[in-house]
Amino acid sequence: MLKTLLITGGAGFIGSHVVRLFVNKYPNYKIINLDALTYAGNLENLKDIDQKSNYVFEKGDITDENYIFDLFKKYDFDGVIHLAAESHVDRSISNPLEFLKTNIFGTVTLLNAAKEIWKDHFDNKRFYHVSTDEVYGSLDNGGFFTETTAYDPKSPYSASKAGSDHFVRAYANTYNLPIVISNCSNNYGPNQFPEKLIPLFINNIQNNKPLPVYGKGENIRDWLYVVDHARAIDDVYHKGKTGETYNIGGFNEWKNIDLIKVICKTMDEKLGREAGTSEKLITYVTDRAGHDLRYAIDATKITKDLGWKPSLQFEEGISKTIDWYLENEEWLKNVTSGAYQEYYDEMYDKRD
Ligand code: NAD
Ligand code: TYD
Repeated sequence: MLKTLLITGGAGFIGSHVVRLFVNKYPNYKIINLDALTYAGNLENLKDIDQKSNYVFEKGDITDENYIFDLFKKYDFDGVIHLAAESHVDRSISNPLEFLKTNIFGTVTLLNAAKEIWKDHFDNKRFYHVSTDEVYGSLDNGGFFTETTAYDPKSPYSASKAGSDHFVRAYANTYNLPIVISNCSNNYGPNQFPEKLIPLFINNIQNNKPLPVYGKGENIRDWLYVVDHARAIDDVYHKGKTGETYNIGGFNEWKNIDLIKVICKTMDEKLGREAGTSEKLITYVTDRAGHDLRYAIDATKITKDLGWKPSLQFEEGISKTIDWYLENEEWLKNVTSGAYQEYYDEMYDKRD
């Protein structure tokens, strides 16, 4: 049976991997990718699949209520996988309202359309919100986030994602909207915008630019290869229980400075530079305001209930990722020109 599925934010980093996986794996689905193409959205990410007959791109804004209602009427979606968001913590510190608007107002706009258009036939519908582990706040050196950890968001980004999670659950409780949520740890891999730690540092090493390490580099993140996240999203969408939350993580914690040293060493080897060359670029800069110390996911539930686990070891994932950025200089050049470059210079000047 033909299923019509809306994926929001499909031109972004994670969304593009999700769209690719669904378009290739489910030829009998019609995949509608809705994206506003902000600085973070790039259709080049999908050039290998955009001619497929089961793929449609719609340029539009999730905060535009009339447009979203019309889109739901036009396609009669069976399900929604909602990824569109403002996603970078540093940007949320400079511009919290943008995060409130896209992440909360935009999510509620989609929820409203789903509630209204689906209202007499919720059976077999599904609204899936893709969220972050940052909603749980910050851990010290012990313990893990589980699905029952109390929300304690600490940055404007995580507060906006926590707010959107709450709205999704409120629509399930109040209107019986069939929802599912997942909260994932830090992703890395091809097509990530070079403002996030890993692609930013790969790009800077390649261009012999300083590597701005916030604070002492002691913060810890749990890294997951983006394709493994896309596989988890496939599992949650198809096998997850309505109303449930699933935590997704890499079982792969790294202190920033240790991770950065691995990137430096691997880049030296791949670029044929003398050992230690890239590490010399490390520059300790003023810490991020309110910088969460540690994120770590306990992903037992999704492993036990849905049979998902990461497929790629970190060493292999980081090596593949670096290779991709080295082979896709043009992509990096395109996304780092223009508007982003101005933003980057502004942020970077502040860090010096
Ligand atoms: P991204 O910033 O790379 O992509 C976001 C996409 O959303 C872009 O294509 C952008 O154009 C689009 N978008 C933004 N505002 C929009 C609007 N108003 N209307 C329509 N489209 C809009 O983000 P990402 O890293 O791929 O993250 C995707 C989702 O996954 C987000 O919801 C994020 O909170 C969540 N998440 C990300 C991570 C991570 O490590 N990156 C981890 C866990 C969860
Ligand atoms: P980031 O990729 O922004 O993801 P998040 O803040 O959502 O975890 O940052 C990952 C870690 O790297 C985080 O502890 C902040 C740190 N960081 C730096 O030290 N320097 C940088 O230039 C950036 C972008 C991040």
